[in-house]
Amino acid sequence: MPRKPLIAANWKMYKTPAQAQEFMKNFLPLVANHHRDEIVVCPSFTSISVVIAAATGSGVAIGAQNMHFADEGAYTGETSPLMLKAIGATHVILGHSERRQYFAENDELINKKLKSALHHALIPIVCVGEVLAEREAGKTEQVLLRQTRGVLAGIAASAAAPIVIAYEPVWAIGTGKTATPQIAAEAHAVIRNEVNKLLGAEIAANLRILYGGSVKPDNATALMAETEIDGALVGGASLDPQSFAKIVNY
Ligand code: PGA
Repeated sequence: MPRKPLIAANWKMYKTPAQAQEFMKNFLPLVANHHRDEIVVCPSFTSISVVIAAATGSGVAIGAQNMHFADEGAYTGETSPLMLKAIGATHVILGHSERRQYFAENDELINKKLKSALHHALIPIVCVGEVLAEREAGKTEQVLLRQTRGVLAGIAASAAAPIVIAYEPVWAIGTGKTATPQIAAEAHAVIRNEVNKLLGAEIAANLRILYGGSVKPDNATALMAETEIDGALVGGASLDPQSFAKIVNY
């Protein structure tokens, strides 16, 4: 069975609830008849509820950009998987490079969050990717292997089916520099090959690997034409309903 592509919007720390609602009002009609891809919108926590309400009946799924691994506890400022489930979120982005860079998240923590998301039946979109210095030093493959092994440590093949991985070369995020479809496809093959070793052929064959990093309406078609690329995680270009709809309708 071919892998169903997944196109996810990562709004980062943008949009008030009113702005999020306005986006949905304009975006949903543009994708009303779209069934080819799974569409996911990930607003900041304060807008998740309004966006879920707006998306009711539309087929667009709503996710969070982060979560804590614990169900509850004395973790000031954090949000738990139970809380996300309770308001109807279905997906969660984990280990985004901005979380790694600015909030000191590492593979070990991301691994705990991934196990928790699977336990709570949230579909995890787990991010990996090298920084520019690592690419220039020829270490891309080494970094991808280390991150893939680290985030998947101790996860059984029987639990792994929902996992989505996003390859996001850090040098391409928000910079306007997109990885060429070939660069992305090579990195995806490294990840899929490692998942094959860790979790077996069936999980690897069905694993969706998204590309993220300056995906725009004008490069989405070329990226999505690569058989190794199973969707996109879109930051900047997902903030505008027309632009995100163009990407979804590549
Ligand atoms: P960008 O962000 O599309 O703005 O490069 C992608 C991401 O950070 O997920």
